[in-house]
Amino acid sequence: MQELSATAQYFTDSVIRRMTRIAIGCGAINLAQGFPDFDPPKALTDRLSEVSAIGPHQYPITMGAPNFRRALAQKCGRFMGRSIDPENEVVVTIGSTEAMVDTLFALTNPGDKIIMFSPYFENYRAQTLLVGCEPIFVPLVPPTFRFDANVLEDAFKQGAKAILICNPSNPSGKVFTRAELELIAKLAVQYDTYVIMDEVYEHIVYAPHEHVYMNALPGMWERTVSCSSLSKTYSITGWRIGYAIAPKYLMDKIKQYHDFNTVGAASPLMEAAVVGLEMPDSYYEEFGAHYAHMKQVFTKGLDDIGIAYTDPQGAYFVLADIRNFMKKGQDDVAFCEEMAKTVGVACVPGSSFFKEDVPSIVRMHFAKKDDTLYEALNRLADMKAKLA
Ligand SMILES: Cc1ncc(COP(=O)(O)O)c(C=O)c1O
Repeated sequence: MQELSATAQYFTDSVIRRMTRIAIGCGAINLAQGFPDFDPPKALTDRLSEVSAIGPHQYPITMGAPNFRRALAQKCGRFMGRSIDPENEVVVTIGSTEAMVDTLFALTNPGDKIIMFSPYFENYRAQTLLVGCEPIFVPLVPPTFRFDANVLEDAFKQGAKAILICNPSNPSGKVFTRAELELIAKLAVQYDTYVIMDEVYEHIVYAPHEHVYMNALPGMWERTVSCSSLSKTYSITGWRIGYAIAPKYLMDKIKQYHDFNTVGAASPLMEAAVVGLEMPDSYYEEFGAHYAHMKQVFTKGLDDIGIAYTDPQGAYFVLADIRNFMKKGQDDVAFCEEMAKTVGVACVPGSSFFKEDVPSIVRMHFAKKDDTLYEALNRLADMKAKLA
């Protein structure tokens, strides 16, 4: 038989999504893969019911339904503080996941280098390898997750084609400050590097931290692609609607990859999601307040139990220290599988996110109903005894 893909040997299936399958298999509460167990806004589900009767049900315009793109450009332009052209500067994709892959294909050639911070979202390494590029990792050093400007500049000096930044960051919860983004912007201009932003958590930021859009910084629109999605902001991770926003000369290339990769996002779901994009500012305020509440419930519970964790500035994850709970010689993957089965709470091994060796960290998310969080905390309370 002929040889199969050589590229595929450099990455495995996603550990995050594998943990979901394990959680389902053993009935564990899934604090591994980040998705809510509460409903999306009722306005969206009501509109979806209407749309199911009246359509559209056929192929959309490849780049995204025109009314969806108009609403998206309005909403994003409002938050980014610039006018966005729905015809030339937007493409609607199958989640931010597709937007990232299309962007990587559009901006790079095999052999190019891509800078990313470590810890990084699991997808980035696989997606970078998928397009034949080589990641250069720059550490975000716990517990503050700051980076060393000299180490970062060394990475730029290696001739990177692009830097990929998750802001707010999964899994660290870091929200990049304006000064940090300005420094990165300066280096990107100096070394002629594109900037690919993953901003899916743009509306989940805890005061006093604030989300600053890279493409809104002076001189950055021309070299920045902002990838994001409706998954987190409207609690519809299963609808698989994402997008990229970029200047026309980059967008023209991104659209080419999108066109042949997926043809387009689901027509009825785009139609129903327009009502989300048209929500007033108060929606985002209430949404942020809800996440602040869930964070408070979960982190207070961890404090009470005595599990140490990193306090996120944004997104909905904590990195918890499990060194006191692991068996001698056990790795974090085996620990997470045992924890799901024995304690009844699924989380993700830290090794899925770090380039560096971090033997005793797990990621847990708290995008859950209060009752789910209390039940998870209840199960975690006697974790030591259960794992003994
Ligand atoms: C940082 C980050 N980017 C992208 C995604 C995937 O987003 P989407 O559902 O829009 O594909 C996730 C999902 O967990 C994520 O955490």
